[in-house]
Amino acid sequence: MAIVIRGGTVINADNSVRADVLIEGEKIVAVGPDLDVPAGAEVIEAGGCNVMPGGIDPHTHMQLPFMGTRVVDDFYTGTVAGATGGTTMIIDFVIPDGSLIDAVATWQERAAISATDFGFHVAITGWNEKVSQEMAVVTNEHGINSYKFFMAYKNAIMVSDEELIAGFSRCRDLGAIAAVHAETGELVFQLQQELLKKGITGPEGHPQSRPSEVEGEAADRAIRIAEVLGVPLYIVHIGAQEASDAVTRARLRGQRVFGETLAGFLTVDDSVYYDKDWDFAASHVMSPCFKPKGHPEALWKALQAGNLQVIGTDHCTFNVEQKRMGLEDFTKIPNGTGGIEDRMSIVWQLGVNSGLITPNEFVAATSTNAARIFNIFPQKGAIRVGADADVIVFDPEKSKTISAKTHHQKNDFNVFEGREVRGLTVHTLSRGNHIYADGDIRATKGKGQYVPRKPFGEAYQGMQHRDRIANARKIDR
Ligand code: URP
Ligand code: ZN
Ligand code: ZN
Repeated sequence: MAIVIRGGTVINADNSVRADVLIEGEKIVAVGPDLDVPAGAEVIEAGGCNVMPGGIDPHTHMQLPFMGTRVVDDFYTGTVAGATGGTTMIIDFVIPDGSLIDAVATWQERAAISATDFGFHVAITGWNEKVSQEMAVVTNEHGINSYKFFMAYKNAIMVSDEELIAGFSRCRDLGAIAAVHAETGELVFQLQQELLKKGITGPEGHPQSRPSEVEGEAADRAIRIAEVLGVPLYIVHIGAQEASDAVTRARLRGQRVFGETLAGFLTVDDSVYYDKDWDFAASHVMSPCFKPKGHPEALWKALQAGNLQVIGTDHCTFNVEQKRMGLEDFTKIPNGTGGIEDRMSIVWQLGVNSGLITPNEFVAATSTNAARIFNIFPQKGAIRVGADADVIVFDPEKSKTISAKTHHQKNDFNVFEGREVRGLTVHTLSRGNHIYADGDIRATKGKGQYVPRKPFGEAYQGMQHRDRIANARKIDR
């Protein structure tokens, strides 16, 4: 059945225009003023509303086994929560414990219940010939063009510089994007031991073992390694000004480096870790951690300047009871917080309503830029003819107060608790399916589809680093 979204303002990353949107099947087939309504079509009235590309959250962890427990949101509850907030695609992290190919199969099984579309990044947690060979299969046969390297979580999934360098080179050969969790894991580990020795066992030990320089050092190191090897680099979950500045400096040198921050990092500061309520403080434990005042403001400026391009969530939900695994030792508190449901409204409230970013920049940071970087644009990230009909109707005047009591996420805590947001998604369409209508969830388990992503995308345009390095060496001589 056709759907017409009528009378709204269509907001893309590059322009805003009053137009109707006609959807047939999974695709957008017309965008323009006063479109004819085909017989039998469903009409969604969007007067006074914005019609925008569905959000893409490029950083989620659904159903992840992590730190001795498991994330509570599965691919269904997590994507439904996202859909109620206006997110229509996630890119989740496959974290292998052995074969990459087996791990991708496991994630495909888990994700088969998704309500909206999904893709995967794969984490590289060690290095050998098999990993190298499997990366080629994963990239060329499984449609995954991005790999995450953890520079933190020592004694678990952290990689050494040797492994990082081998993995980055392989990404370059395959046309994949290297992504890093930028924290100096060795330094974090040493600081954790010192704090525990001093008897600091509570959640305040978490930020104390992760000063912002930890992010800055790792970001600088990863950027320089990527520069020499000529691989595009994506730094996930940037919370510290130092890491953001490192991205800015690299981009000014002409390097292909992209920065992702999180809705949470733009909103919350580290004072939460010093709250007297242990459960409250521990429920904010994630890595990187929330940073002191001044950092969120710096991240907003970097977004305004275009130096950071993407806002994700790192949606990784645990219940308070799970956080209590670290009652005696903050290093054992499962790391992760949620955010997929509220990302769009929080960013609209703090970014657009305050005048820091424009509605077009909002679309770029919550959807289009991720689509471009991960090579699925314009299938995703745009309201245009031929694109997937992942569309939201967003009422900029409608408001609510965020609360774990009313959210759809499965966890019992919300880092945005009590925040008033003006600007809510009222309709969500996923590949032409009207899965959310003003409070009414019509999503179906398993309707979401896997979105394969080809290598050598836009991020590789102009990447002639090998030549550049060779030339630079000639000049040096
Ligand atoms: O605390 C976090 N971020 N947990 C999820 C794993 C990661 O580092 O992204
Ligand atoms: Zn991470
Ligand atoms: Zn993460």
